[in-house]
Amino acid sequence: MNKLYWGDNLDILRKIKDESVDLICTDPPFNSGPNNAEYARVDIKERSESCKVYKALNECLSGYDMLLSNAVTGNKGAIRAYLTFMGPRLVEMHRVLTKSGSMYMHCDPNISHYLKVLMDAIWNHSNGQESESFKNEIVWYYRRFSGASRKYRKMHDIILFYTKTENYVFITPKPVYENKLFRRDKEKDIIDKKLDRMQDDKGQYKRIRTKTDDAFLRDVWDDVGVLSLAISERLGYPTQKPSLLYTRMIETSSEDGDVVLDPFCGSGTTLNAAQALKRKWIGIDSSIIALDVTERRLKDKYSLKPSEDYEIVGFPTNFKGVKELANKETKHTILSNWAATRLNLTPSKDADNDSDISIWSLRDKKRSDVRIAAEVKVGKPSPGQVRQLQKFIENDTADIVILITLEPVTSEMRKIADKVEKFKYKGLSFPRLQFWQITDKFFDDPESVYDVLQLPGKLRVKPTKKGDRLFPDIQFDSDIK
Ligand SMILES: C[S@@+](CC[C@H](N)C(=O)[O-])C[C@H]1O[C@@H](n2cnc3c(N)ncnc32)[C@H](O)[C@@H]1O
Repeated sequence: MNKLYWGDNLDILRKIKDESVDLICTDPPFNSGPNNAEYARVDIKERSESCKVYKALNECLSGYDMLLSNAVTGNKGAIRAYLTFMGPRLVEMHRVLTKSGSMYMHCDPNISHYLKVLMDAIWNHSNGQESESFKNEIVWYYRRFSGASRKYRKMHDIILFYTKTENYVFITPKPVYENKLFRRDKEKDIIDKKLDRMQDDKGQYKRIRTKTDDAFLRDVWDDVGVLSLAISERLGYPTQKPSLLYTRMIETSSEDGDVVLDPFCGSGTTLNAAQALKRKWIGIDSSIIALDVTERRLKDKYSLKPSEDYEIVGFPTNFKGVKELANKETKHTILSNWAATRLNLTPSKDADNDSDISIWSLRDKKRSDVRIAAEVKVGKPSPGQVRQLQKFIENDTADIVILITLEPVTSEMRKIADKVEKFKYKGLSFPRLQFWQITDKFFDDPESVYDVLQLPGKLRVKPTKKGDRLFPDIQFDSDIK
């Protein structure tokens, strides 16, 4: 069964069986480093005593220590921390690949050369051969707006392509498309039978893709554009990549029914392409926001439901799971993010960074201008918490504040909330301070949350008898039918 994991991919990769994945397509963050880099190095060193691949990694990192002057701060320190973060993950990715498996890793040109040496150390050591595993450095060339700068403008990313052995799947890739720019006024001249696809740039030029006569795909991919604001594929996840890139990798380097893994899956671009191409897939991400986008993407595109059509691991599936999550962290940011995304909320672009509470907007595009502050309080709810949240309304940081609790709120808290002036939106009034107590009922019927919350666009009007309304104090206008 396909699987979506929430958590740190190092822990999860270590639980995946040896040689059980046919293809890895991944796009790690470019600037992550563990807070505990020194501890991570000790762990690598210990593992290197019994594992030759970790030994190769340890030696490579020691070489980098010299190159980077053992720095712990500044740019050199950040690179050392990043390589310490990526090293063990690359060892585990190599371990889980089948003998005929391949890996594509998307990298920024600022770091790709460091990663290539790291991958060479890991891949080649275990092969016992010279540089056999490295296959290509693919240049994904794109056009995008870029401001003036005192160096050449960056217009490409690097994708490193490695195979575990020489016996790898490589299905002759489809001919490439050429990206040609034509003037609009010549539009009529260029619409001919060769035309395969058109992409409107909303500018003076029109970009036309025509099939080339090349029989083989080249290592410069210049026919896949970045996801511009106007492209419907865009889901709002900041680092989302175009599906076409991943479709190409999967079509070329795997077969029907093969297992595709993306341990940094973000908005689920690899999983989306794998699903379309009838591959099995495993996705991992440590961000609940990323997995929320992935879940929605799989639901909207393929009607896939978590727990039914794919296994979802790491998410709370009952109230006990919520409590366990609450016990894991003291700040409860992850729990708040989980809870807010269950309410169909999405991070707000206008979030007030100075605030210590997250601001969200409704996913409903028509109502995304409503700012919602949502926060989980673990433990016994108290009137002081409501007063604290009231500040977000008073200083106009949020339109609606939702206090999410694990235990029932008191009648005094409700009284305070009742006294707050209502939020008026498109002719309707909504309580500005609202409460949601998470219980097992939510897991049986997630929509039941709207029996207690009143949010624009998610308003439930359930007449129990004629003329009766669930929320009697709501005035209606033509906006809600
Ligand atoms: C560059 S983004 C991937 C974007 C993805 N290709 C897409 O199209 O949406 C990198 C992702 O790695 C995730 N990530 C970072 N560190 C991680 C870790 N240790 N374990 C799992 N995921 C991690 C981030 O949350 C982020 O979503």
